[in-house]
Amino acid sequence: MSEPESWRFDTLAIHAGQPPDPATGAIMVPIYQTSTYVQAEPGRHKGYEYSRTGNPTRTALETCLAALEGAGTGRETYGLAFASGMAATDTVLRLVGPGEHVLVGDDVYGGTYRLFQRVLAGYGIAFDYVDMGDLAAVAAALRPDTRLIWLETPTNPLLKLADIAGVAALARQQGRKGNHKDRPYVVVDNTFATPYLQQPLVLGADIVVHSTTKYLSGHSDVVGGAVVTTNAEVYERLKFLQNAVGAVPGPLDCWLVLRGIKTLGLRMERHCANAGRVAAMLAEHPAVARVLYPGLPGHPLHQVARRQMRGFGGMVSFILKGGPEAARRVVSRTQLFALAESLGGVESLIEHPASMTHASVADSPLRVDAGLIRLSVGIEDGDDLLDDLRRALA
Ligand SMILES: Cc1ncc(COP(=O)(O)O)c(C=O)c1O
Repeated sequence: MSEPESWRFDTLAIHAGQPPDPATGAIMVPIYQTSTYVQAEPGRHKGYEYSRTGNPTRTALETCLAALEGAGTGRETYGLAFASGMAATDTVLRLVGPGEHVLVGDDVYGGTYRLFQRVLAGYGIAFDYVDMGDLAAVAAALRPDTRLIWLETPTNPLLKLADIAGVAALARQQGRKGNHKDRPYVVVDNTFATPYLQQPLVLGADIVVHSTTKYLSGHSDVVGGAVVTTNAEVYERLKFLQNAVGAVPGPLDCWLVLRGIKTLGLRMERHCANAGRVAAMLAEHPAVARVLYPGLPGHPLHQVARRQMRGFGGMVSFILKGGPEAARRVVSRTQLFALAESLGGVESLIEHPASMTHASVADSPLRVDAGLIRLSVGIEDGDDLLDDLRRALA
Protein backbone atom coordinates (compact mmCIF):
# COMPACT_ATOMS: atom_id res chain seq x y z
CA MET A 1 0.00 0.00 0.00
CA SER A 2 1.60 3.26 -1.07
CA GLU A 3 1.11 6.38 1.02
CA PRO A 4 -0.70 8.98 -1.06
CA GLU A 5 0.72 12.46 -0.61
CA SER A 6 -2.81 13.66 0.11
CA TRP A 7 -3.39 11.59 3.26
CA ARG A 8 -4.37 13.71 6.22
CA PHE A 9 -3.20 13.40 9.81
CA ASP A 10 -5.61 10.79 11.15
CA THR A 11 -5.13 8.58 8.10
CA LEU A 12 -1.35 8.83 8.37
CA ALA A 13 -1.58 8.00 12.09
CA ILE A 14 -3.23 4.68 11.25
CA HIS A 15 -1.50 3.73 8.02
CA ALA A 16 1.85 5.51 7.52
CA GLY A 17 4.66 2.94 7.48
CA GLN A 18 2.16 0.16 8.17
CA PRO A 19 1.07 -1.65 5.00
CA PRO A 20 -0.46 -5.10 5.59
CA ASP A 21 2.26 -7.70 6.19
CA PRO A 22 3.27 -8.97 2.71
CA ALA A 23 3.92 -12.51 4.03
CA THR A 24 0.58 -13.11 5.79
CA GLY A 25 -1.73 -10.15 5.20
CA ALA A 26 -1.69 -9.34 8.93
CA ILE A 27 -3.22 -5.89 9.26
CA MET A 28 -1.11 -5.06 12.31
CA VAL A 29 2.65 -4.66 11.94
CA PRO A 30 4.24 -7.85 13.32
CA ILE A 31 6.42 -7.60 16.42
CA TYR A 32 9.72 -8.72 14.91
CA GLN A 33 11.14 -10.12 18.14
CA THR A 34 14.53 -10.96 16.70
CA SER A 35 18.06 -9.77 17.34
CA THR A 36 19.58 -10.87 14.03
CA TYR A 37 18.73 -11.71 10.39
CA VAL A 38 19.99 -14.47 8.12
CA GLN A 39 22.20 -13.37 5.22
CA ALA A 40 22.48 -15.23 1.89
CA GLU A 41 26.16 -14.33 1.72
CA PRO A 42 28.12 -11.72 3.71
CA GLY A 43 26.45 -8.36 3.14
CA ARG A 44 23.57 -9.79 1.02
CA HIS A 45 20.39 -9.57 3.10
CA LYS A 46 16.86 -8.21 3.05
CA GLY A 47 17.71 -4.82 4.55
CA TYR A 48 18.30 -5.89 8.13
CA GLU A 49 21.44 -7.28 9.75
CA TYR A 50 21.14 -6.71 13.49
CA SER A 51 18.34 -5.19 15.56
CA ARG A 52 20.37 -2.41 17.19
CA THR A 53 21.00 -1.13 13.65
CA GLY A 54 17.48 -1.72 12.39
CA ASN A 55 14.33 -3.72 13.10
CA PRO A 56 11.21 -3.79 10.88
CA THR A 57 8.81 -2.94 13.74
CA ARG A 58 11.02 0.03 14.61
CA THR A 59 11.14 1.04 10.94
CA ALA A 60 7.33 1.15 10.87
CA LEU A 61 7.28 3.43 13.92
CA GLU A 62 10.04 5.68 12.58
CA THR A 63 8.25 6.02 9.23
CA CYS A 64 4.96 6.83 10.95
CA LEU A 65 6.52 9.46 13.23
CA ALA A 66 8.26 11.09 10.27
CA ALA A 67 4.97 11.22 8.37
CA LEU A 68 3.11 12.86 11.28
CA GLU A 69 5.70 15.52 12.06
CA GLY A 70 6.59 16.03 8.39
CA ALA A 71 3.10 16.33 6.91
CA GLY A 72 2.82 19.83 5.47
CA THR A 73 6.56 20.56 5.33
CA GLY A 74 6.67 19.54 1.67
CA ARG A 75 10.05 18.00 2.43
CA GLU A 76 11.46 14.57 3.01
CA THR A 77 11.27 13.90 6.75
CA TYR A 78 13.18 11.31 8.75
CA GLY A 79 12.31 9.61 12.05
CA LEU A 80 14.37 7.74 14.61
CA ALA A 81 13.07 5.87 17.65
CA PHE A 82 14.87 5.61 20.98
CA ALA A 83 14.58 3.72 24.25
CA SER A 84 13.35 6.81 26.11
CA GLY A 85 12.83 10.52 25.67
CA MET A 86 16.09 11.12 27.52
CA ALA A 87 17.95 8.76 25.16
CA ALA A 88 16.56 10.79 22.23
CA THR A 89 17.64 14.05 23.90
CA ASP A 90 21.10 12.72 24.70
CA THR A 91 21.62 11.56 21.11
CA VAL A 92 20.66 14.98 19.69
CA LEU A 93 23.07 16.67 22.10
CA ARG A 94 25.89 14.60 20.56
CA LEU A 95 25.64 16.98 17.60
CA VAL A 96 27.37 19.48 19.90
CA GLY A 97 31.09 19.36 20.62
CA PRO A 98 33.20 20.53 23.56
CA GLY A 99 33.59 24.30 23.61
CA GLU A 100 30.25 24.86 21.87
CA HIS A 101 27.12 26.47 23.24
CA VAL A 102 23.48 25.43 23.63
CA LEU A 103 20.73 27.93 24.38
CA VAL A 104 17.92 26.36 26.39
CA GLY A 105 14.46 27.50 27.49
CA ASP A 106 14.29 28.54 31.13
CA ASP A 107 11.56 26.02 31.84
CA VAL A 108 12.21 22.44 30.70
CA TYR A 109 11.60 18.95 32.00
CA GLY A 110 13.76 18.46 35.11
CA GLY A 111 15.49 15.41 33.61
CA THR A 112 16.54 17.46 30.58
CA TYR A 113 18.13 20.08 32.83
CA ARG A 114 19.82 17.31 34.86
CA LEU A 115 21.30 15.77 31.69
CA PHE A 116 22.54 19.14 30.45
CA GLN A 117 24.03 20.41 33.72
CA ARG A 118 25.11 17.28 35.55
CA VAL A 119 26.29 15.18 32.62
CA LEU A 120 26.99 17.14 29.44
CA ALA A 121 28.34 20.35 30.98
CA GLY A 122 31.12 18.11 32.36
CA TYR A 123 32.16 17.39 28.76
CA GLY A 124 32.75 21.07 28.02
CA ILE A 125 29.40 22.05 26.49
CA ALA A 126 28.14 25.46 27.69
CA PHE A 127 24.43 25.88 28.46
CA ASP A 128 22.53 29.13 28.95
CA TYR A 129 18.87 29.38 29.94
CA VAL A 130 16.55 32.06 28.60
CA ASP A 131 12.82 32.78 28.40
CA MET A 132 12.07 31.40 24.91
CA GLY A 133 8.84 33.38 24.87
CA ASP A 134 10.90 36.60 24.75
CA LEU A 135 12.40 36.81 21.26
CA ALA A 136 14.57 39.83 22.14
CA ALA A 137 16.07 37.86 25.03
CA VAL A 138 16.72 34.89 22.72
CA ALA A 139 18.41 37.13 20.14
CA ALA A 140 20.60 38.69 22.83
CA ALA A 141 21.65 35.29 24.24
CA LEU A 142 22.74 33.75 20.91
CA ARG A 143 26.51 33.38 20.52
CA PRO A 144 28.67 32.73 17.47
CA ASP A 145 29.29 29.22 18.81
CA THR A 146 25.63 28.39 19.58
CA ARG A 147 24.97 25.00 17.96
CA LEU A 148 21.49 24.28 19.26
CA ILE A 149 18.50 26.25 20.48
CA TRP A 150 16.57 23.84 22.68
CA LEU A 151 13.01 24.60 23.61
CA GLU A 152 9.85 23.03 24.90
CA THR A 153 6.53 24.61 24.01
CA PRO A 154 4.33 24.26 25.99
CA THR A 155 6.87 23.73 28.75
CA ASN A 156 6.88 21.23 31.56
CA PRO A 157 5.61 22.19 34.13
CA LEU A 158 4.84 25.92 33.69
CA LEU A 159 3.07 25.70 30.31
CA LYS A 160 5.18 28.56 28.98
CA LEU A 161 5.19 29.03 25.22
CA ALA A 162 7.66 29.99 22.54
CA ASP A 163 6.92 31.39 19.09
CA ILE A 164 8.57 28.59 17.09
CA ALA A 165 8.60 30.47 13.77
CA GLY A 166 10.07 33.51 15.53
CA VAL A 167 12.89 31.49 17.12
CA ALA A 168 13.55 29.70 13.80
CA ALA A 169 13.85 33.09 12.06
CA LEU A 170 16.41 34.23 14.66
CA ALA A 171 18.44 31.05 14.08
CA ARG A 172 18.47 31.69 10.33
CA GLN A 173 19.48 35.32 10.89
CA GLN A 174 22.34 34.13 13.09
CA GLY A 175 23.52 31.91 10.23
CA ARG A 176 23.75 34.92 7.93
CA LYS A 177 26.22 36.61 10.26
CA GLY A 178 29.73 36.27 8.86
CA ASN A 179 31.32 34.93 12.04
CA HIS A 180 29.07 31.90 12.24
CA LYS A 181 30.17 28.64 10.63
CA ASP A 182 26.78 26.95 10.82
CA ARG A 183 23.56 28.47 12.01
CA PRO A 184 22.21 26.93 15.22
CA TYR A 185 19.64 24.19 14.79
CA VAL A 186 16.30 24.78 16.45
CA VAL A 187 15.20 21.72 18.45
CA VAL A 188 11.66 21.53 19.80
CA ASP A 189 10.64 19.01 22.45
CA ASN A 190 7.10 18.53 21.18
CA THR A 191 6.07 16.05 23.89
CA PHE A 192 3.28 18.19 25.40
CA ALA A 193 1.69 19.23 22.11
CA THR A 194 2.22 16.14 19.89
CA PRO A 195 2.22 16.56 16.10
CA TYR A 196 -1.58 16.54 16.20
CA LEU A 197 -1.64 19.93 17.92
CA GLN A 198 1.60 21.46 16.66
CA GLN A 199 4.14 20.75 13.92
CA PRO A 200 7.42 22.51 14.70
CA LEU A 201 9.04 21.39 11.42
CA VAL A 202 6.31 23.18 9.46
CA LEU A 203 7.04 26.30 11.53
CA GLY A 204 10.74 26.20 10.63
CA ALA A 205 12.34 24.12 13.41
CA ASP A 206 15.04 21.66 12.35
CA ILE A 207 14.59 18.82 14.81
CA VAL A 208 11.68 17.56 16.90
CA VAL A 209 12.17 15.43 20.01
CA HIS A 210 9.54 13.37 21.82
CA SER A 211 9.09 11.37 24.91
CA THR A 212 6.80 8.84 23.22
CA THR A 213 6.14 7.59 26.75
CA LYS A 214 3.50 10.32 26.92
CA TYR A 215 0.70 11.21 24.48
CA LEU A 216 2.06 9.35 21.46
CA SER A 217 1.79 5.96 23.13
CA GLY A 218 -0.98 7.34 25.31
CA HIS A 219 -1.66 4.41 27.63
CA SER A 220 1.05 4.64 30.32
CA ASP A 221 2.43 1.25 29.35
CA VAL A 222 5.75 1.98 27.64
CA VAL A 223 8.82 4.22 27.87
CA GLY A 224 10.18 5.52 24.57
CA GLY A 225 11.59 8.47 22.68
CA ALA A 226 11.88 9.81 19.15
CA VAL A 227 13.66 12.33 16.97
CA VAL A 228 12.31 13.66 13.66
CA THR A 229 14.13 16.00 11.29
CA THR A 230 13.88 17.46 7.79
CA ASN A 231 17.68 17.80 7.55
CA ALA A 232 19.17 14.79 5.70
CA GLU A 233 22.68 15.47 6.98
CA VAL A 234 21.50 15.70 10.59
CA TYR A 235 19.50 12.50 10.09
CA GLU A 236 22.53 10.59 8.79
CA ARG A 237 24.58 11.68 11.79
CA LEU A 238 21.79 10.86 14.27
CA LYS A 239 21.17 7.48 12.63
CA PHE A 240 24.88 6.73 12.96
CA LEU A 241 24.71 7.77 16.63
CA GLN A 242 21.55 5.72 17.23
CA ASN A 243 23.47 2.60 16.19
CA ALA A 244 26.82 3.63 17.66
CA VAL A 245 25.40 4.56 21.07
CA GLY A 246 22.65 1.93 20.99
CA ALA A 247 19.81 3.40 23.08
CA VAL A 248 17.18 1.73 20.88
CA PRO A 249 13.68 0.56 21.81
CA GLY A 250 12.74 -3.10 21.58
CA PRO A 251 10.18 -4.26 18.99
CA LEU A 252 7.34 -4.72 21.48
CA ASP A 253 7.82 -1.19 22.78
CA CYS A 254 7.79 0.15 19.20
CA TRP A 255 4.58 -1.77 18.54
CA LEU A 256 2.91 -0.32 21.63
CA VAL A 257 3.76 3.22 20.51
CA LEU A 258 2.50 2.48 17.00
CA ARG A 259 -0.77 1.17 18.39
CA GLY A 260 -1.17 4.20 20.61
CA ILE A 261 -0.57 6.61 17.74
CA LYS A 262 -3.55 5.20 15.81
CA THR A 263 -5.94 7.00 18.21
CA LEU A 264 -3.78 10.09 18.82
CA GLY A 265 -6.15 12.55 17.12
CA LEU A 266 -9.24 11.29 18.95
CA ARG A 267 -7.47 11.24 22.28
CA MET A 268 -6.01 14.72 21.89
CA GLU A 269 -9.43 16.16 21.08
CA ARG A 270 -10.80 14.80 24.36
CA HIS A 271 -7.67 15.75 26.34
CA CYS A 272 -8.03 19.33 25.07
CA ALA A 273 -11.77 19.49 25.78
CA ASN A 274 -11.40 18.15 29.33
CA ALA A 275 -8.35 20.29 30.09
CA GLY A 276 -10.13 23.41 28.84
CA ARG A 277 -13.02 22.73 31.25
CA VAL A 278 -10.66 22.00 34.15
CA ALA A 279 -8.67 25.21 33.50
CA ALA A 280 -11.86 27.29 33.36
CA MET A 281 -13.14 25.78 36.64
CA LEU A 282 -9.83 26.33 38.41
CA ALA A 283 -9.60 29.92 37.15
CA GLU A 284 -12.88 30.66 39.00
CA HIS A 285 -12.07 28.66 42.14
CA PRO A 286 -11.50 30.71 45.34
CA ALA A 287 -8.65 28.43 46.56
CA VAL A 288 -6.62 28.93 43.38
CA ALA A 289 -4.16 31.81 42.98
CA ARG A 290 -3.17 31.24 39.33
CA VAL A 291 -3.87 28.85 36.49
CA LEU A 292 -1.27 28.17 33.82
CA TYR A 293 -2.89 26.98 30.58
CA PRO A 294 -2.24 28.20 27.02
CA GLY A 295 -5.97 28.15 26.26
CA LEU A 296 -6.83 30.83 28.82
CA PRO A 297 -7.01 34.32 27.27
CA GLY A 298 -4.89 35.58 30.19
CA HIS A 299 -1.91 33.38 29.23
CA PRO A 300 0.85 35.80 28.16
CA LEU A 301 1.34 34.03 24.81
CA HIS A 302 -2.27 32.94 24.21
CA GLN A 303 -2.20 34.52 20.74
CA VAL A 304 0.93 32.54 19.83
CA ALA A 305 -0.86 29.38 20.97
CA ARG A 306 -3.83 30.25 18.75
CA ARG A 307 -1.49 30.75 15.81
CA GLN A 308 0.71 27.69 16.08
CA MET A 309 -1.45 25.09 17.85
CA ARG A 310 -4.61 23.30 16.76
CA GLY A 311 -5.72 22.98 20.41
CA PHE A 312 -4.25 23.89 23.77
CA GLY A 313 -3.36 20.44 25.08
CA GLY A 314 -4.17 18.28 28.07
CA MET A 315 -1.74 19.68 30.64
CA VAL A 316 -2.87 22.23 33.22
CA SER A 317 -0.79 23.64 36.09
CA PHE A 318 -2.00 25.83 38.94
CA ILE A 319 -0.79 27.48 42.12
CA LEU A 320 -2.88 27.37 45.27
CA LYS A 321 -3.36 30.34 47.56
CA GLY A 322 -2.53 28.04 50.50
CA GLY A 323 1.05 27.42 49.29
CA PRO A 324 3.09 24.19 49.53
CA GLU A 325 1.11 22.67 52.42
CA ALA A 326 -2.19 23.07 50.60
CA ALA A 327 -0.63 21.69 47.41
CA ARG A 328 0.59 18.54 49.15
CA ARG A 329 -2.85 18.07 50.70
CA VAL A 330 -4.72 18.45 47.42
CA VAL A 331 -2.49 16.05 45.44
CA SER A 332 -3.05 13.42 48.12
CA ARG A 333 -6.84 13.85 48.17
CA THR A 334 -8.01 13.34 44.60
CA GLN A 335 -9.45 9.95 43.70
CA LEU A 336 -9.67 9.91 39.92
CA PHE A 337 -6.57 12.04 39.43
CA ALA A 338 -3.90 9.52 40.49
CA LEU A 339 -0.83 10.88 42.26
CA ALA A 340 1.95 9.86 39.88
CA GLU A 341 4.77 11.14 37.70
CA SER A 342 4.53 11.09 33.90
CA LEU A 343 1.66 12.37 31.77
CA GLY A 344 -0.18 11.94 28.52
CA GLY A 345 -2.01 8.69 29.26
CA VAL A 346 -5.76 8.18 29.00
CA GLU A 347 -6.07 8.32 32.79
CA SER A 348 -5.81 11.60 34.71
CA LEU A 349 -2.74 12.21 36.87
CA ILE A 350 -1.88 14.84 39.46
CA GLU A 351 1.55 15.65 40.82
CA HIS A 352 3.61 18.08 42.85
CA PRO A 353 6.53 19.10 40.56
CA ALA A 354 8.71 20.63 43.32
CA SER A 355 9.01 17.29 45.11
CA MET A 356 8.46 14.89 42.18
CA THR A 357 9.23 15.49 38.47
CA HIS A 358 11.21 18.67 39.05
CA ALA A 359 13.00 17.78 42.29
CA SER A 360 16.21 17.65 40.23
CA VAL A 361 16.00 21.42 39.55
CA ALA A 362 15.36 22.30 43.21
CA ASP A 363 18.59 24.27 43.69
CA SER A 364 18.73 25.73 40.20
CA PRO A 365 17.39 28.83 38.46
CA LEU A 366 14.69 26.53 37.03
CA ARG A 367 13.23 25.62 40.43
CA VAL A 368 9.45 25.66 40.54
CA ASP A 369 7.05 27.18 43.07
CA ALA A 370 6.47 24.66 45.87
CA GLY A 371 2.75 25.50 45.71
CA LEU A 372 2.51 24.38 42.07
CA ILE A 373 0.32 21.42 41.08
CA ARG A 374 0.49 19.84 37.61
CA LEU A 375 -2.41 17.94 36.08
CA SER A 376 -2.32 15.57 33.16
CA VAL A 377 -6.00 15.70 32.29
CA GLY A 378 -7.11 12.34 30.90
CA ILE A 379 -9.99 11.34 28.69
CA GLU A 380 -12.44 10.21 31.38
CA ASP A 381 -15.86 11.88 31.62
CA GLY A 382 -15.16 15.59 32.12
CA ASP A 383 -17.88 15.98 34.77
CA ASP A 384 -16.29 13.26 36.91
CA LEU A 385 -12.91 15.00 36.66
CA LEU A 386 -14.39 18.35 37.71
CA ASP A 387 -16.19 16.72 40.65
CA ASP A 388 -12.99 15.02 41.79
CA LEU A 389 -10.99 18.26 41.74
CA ARG A 390 -13.73 20.29 43.42
CA ARG A 391 -13.90 17.72 46.24
CA ALA A 392 -10.12 17.74 46.74
CA LEU A 393 -10.01 21.56 46.76
CA ALA A 394 -12.95 21.94 49.18
C1 LIG B 1 8.75 17.33 28.03
C2 LIG B 1 9.51 16.07 28.32
N1 LIG B 1 10.58 15.77 27.58
C3 LIG B 1 11.31 14.65 27.80
C4 LIG B 1 10.98 13.78 28.82
C5 LIG B 1 11.82 12.55 29.06
O1 LIG B 1 11.19 11.43 28.52
P1 LIG B 1 11.37 9.94 29.09
O2 LIG B 1 10.83 9.92 30.47
O3 LIG B 1 10.60 9.12 28.10
O4 LIG B 1 12.84 9.64 29.07
C6 LIG B 1 9.86 14.04 29.61
C7 LIG B 1 9.49 13.11 30.69
O5 LIG B 1 8.70 13.43 31.57
C8 LIG B 1 9.12 15.22 29.36
O6 LIG B 1 8.03 15.55 30.09
